[in-house]
Formats: sequence, structure tokens, C-alpha cells
Amino acid sequence: MEYRRRFRAGDTVFAQGDAGQCAYVVEEGSVDILTRAGDREILLATRQPGELFGEMAIIDDQPRSAGARAVTDCTLLMITRDQLNQRIERTDPILRMCIQVVLRHLRDTLHRLTNDGARLDAGPAEQLSREAREEALHAIRLEQELQGALDQDQLVLWYQPLVDLQQGHVAGFEALMRWRHPERGLVPPFTFIPAAERSGLIVPMTRWAFRRACLDLKDFQEAATHPPTFMSVNFSGKDFMSPDFLDAIDETLAETGTAPQVVKLEITETLLMHSPDTARRVLGACRDRGISIAIDDFGTGYSSLSYLQSLPADTLKIDQSFIRAMLNDDSSHSLVRSIVGLAKGLDMKLVAEGVEGMPEATALRELGVDFGQGYLFAKPLPRADMIEVLRGWQDPF
Ligand code: CMP
Ligand code: MG
Repeated sequence: MEYRRRFRAGDTVFAQGDAGQCAYVVEEGSVDILTRAGDREILLATRQPGELFGEMAIIDDQPRSAGARAVTDCTLLMITRDQLNQRIERTDPILRMCIQVVLRHLRDTLHRLTNDGARLDAGPAEQLSREAREEALHAIRLEQELQGALDQDQLVLWYQPLVDLQQGHVAGFEALMRWRHPERGLVPPFTFIPAAERSGLIVPMTRWAFRRACLDLKDFQEAATHPPTFMSVNFSGKDFMSPDFLDAIDETLAETGTAPQVVKLEITETLLMHSPDTARRVLGACRDRGISIAIDDFGTGYSSLSYLQSLPADTLKIDQSFIRAMLNDDSSHSLVRSIVGLAKGLDMKLVAEGVEGMPEATALRELGVDFGQGYLFAKPLPRADMIEVLRGWQDPF
């Protein structure tokens, strides 16, 4: 398959109204984009090296909106329908809707200019599939509701204890966000966290959660006989990218009278994918303040070992999939054992996620895992219930 095409000066690359097979990037030479009004030819644009044209027919699956003709001898790099459309399909649904709307306006304007103001027929109006439109509308509504949730205090923080597997007491907590929707009840985080990340709303949401968690930790410390020593809060890549991230952390620590040493930031490796340098710099600054950093869902990512080396993290949270399987599956057991070795070698603390039964808790304790988190010890609970649990806490072993 040839991905480059050459044209001589004056050759037609494609004619207006043709079916489009691909878009082009000019590598050498230049190309005129032309349309007709009656017997007049109108020059719309001239495309130079590095510039793209012929994308519209590929994106909206309509005929070529204009013609293209080589001005000089030229070489064009073809972009296939798949290359373009796969990217568009993967993009944010709202952005996809915007692209379609812009194309429709452009086609309509072009049509009016060249046809004495006549509107474009209804034909290409419904270019967005019903599902794509619903997806976009759903995303828009969800994001607006989320903004409302934040403004109207519908977000709540629940807590799940992390139990010291050697001592049997509660060592710390993970703060987990929940949304108490006035009509839909408790909305699970996997339905709203991704939308919050896409829209950037995650930033004020995490700030709110961090502050709330700092305040609640004090009450938990008072309620327990062995005062828990840390509070874990989940942070996303968007949080780290916001320019005043460190200022906001400092401010909250000062305002709530919280020592940085009791705070743990939970992060996943996807955080590093977009701006690894910024993430590393910001995390380094957190460590310098004495804040600890835990890598969440460890073992499920792609570059676990390389980021272990490059991140200033001090805690690993072994993903629950390994813990669930470790008693019945030798390879999961070996994996957990290897992670224990790895953590010891790197002088990191270990948390086992998803501990549901006493047999695995005992096995983890024998392997030397520091902390366990899971239904065996407690489900995520609202603040008041967590205080009750702490008051009546008994060593589970
Ligand atoms: P497509 O419709 O696939 O084929 C014709 C191309 O001309 C179109 O994609 C755009 O790349 C380009 N085009 C259409 N209208 C304009 C315009 N008004 N100005 C510049 N380029 C245009
Ligand atoms: Mg977490």
C-alpha cells in the first residue's frame, strides 16, 4: 500500500462532490482548494507543506465539500479513514459533537455562498449517530450535575481502615468519595470520577476531599485506643497539573493544623502518562514536605517497575486481583511474595487491597505485608460509623 501520491502541476487531486477516501498532508508543493458558484471558480485556500486538507469528507462521511488541484508538482501524504476516525471515536463525546457541528456549519456556509443563499438541504444534517449524540448529552448533563453536587454539598467522604497486620489495630484510612444524589441515591465513584477528570472538576473535588479528610482524621485519632497515624487521599493527574496544587496543599495543612507526615497521596501510574516531568517534580516537592506517596492498584499497570524507580513513592498498594486469587492460584501467591521482596528491597511499605477472608489475611501477615484493607476488616463507612468501629475495635487475629 502506497501512502504517498505525486501530482503534476494542474492535476486534479479530487473534485467537489467526489466520495472521499482519505485526507492529505502536503509534503512538497502546494494545492489549491476551489469551489464553483455558477460558472465562476472561487479559490478558498492554498495548502502548503505541512498543511492538511480533505479531512471533512472523511470525518462526516459526506461528499467532498470542495475540489483540490495541484498548483505545482507536489507530493501528498495520505491519511486513511481509519487513522482519522479511530482517533475521533476515542475522543471526548462533547468534543466529537463540536467537530460535527463545526463541519456542518462550514458546509452550510459554503453552500449558501455558492448557491445564492440557499440553505443546505436536510440531507447531511443528522451526521452524528443517535448513540454519539446521547453519549455527548449524557456527558454534558453529568458534568453539570457534578458541578451542582459540589456546590450543594452532595459529595460525601467515606473511610475504609487500613489495618496493621502485625499489630491488629487500625493504622490509617483511605478516604473515598461518594455522591449522594437527591434522586438517584448513592452514585458509585466509577460513574462520576471519570467525568470529573475529563471536565477538570476533579480538581475542586479533590481539594474538598483532602480538607474534609484532614479534619476527620483528628476525630478518628481521638476515638481509637491506638491512634491511627495516616490518612490516604486519592489524587489524579489533573490535580497535579493544576498550577497552584502545592499552594492548595500547604494552605489546607495549615488551616486544618495537619502535619504533612500523616498525609498519604494515592496515585496511579496513568498519572505519569501525560506529563511525567511535572508529576515527578510535584511529587518530589510533596515528599520534601514529609507527605508520603502510595502507588495504587500496583501490578495492574504497564510500566510498574520503571516508574517505581523514578517516583518518590514510599508505599505500594497491591491490587486486589492478586490478593483475591492468592490462596487458590500459585502464580498469584508467587507474585504477592515477589512484590513483598521488591518492597522490602526498596524500603517501601506494603498495603494489600481487597482482603476479604481471614485465611488470606493470615497469609499476608506471614509474608510480612504491613497493612491490609478490605471487607474482612471494614467496608468503606461514613465518618460517624467509622468512629463507632474505632471505639469498639478488637484485634481481628
Ligand atoms: P473535504 O470536504 O474532504 O474535501 C475538500 C476539502 O477542502 C475539505 O475537506 C477541506 O479540507 C477543504 N475546505 C473546505 N472548505 C474550505 C474553506 N472554506 N477554506 C479552506 N479549506 C476548505
Ligand atoms: Mg485508592
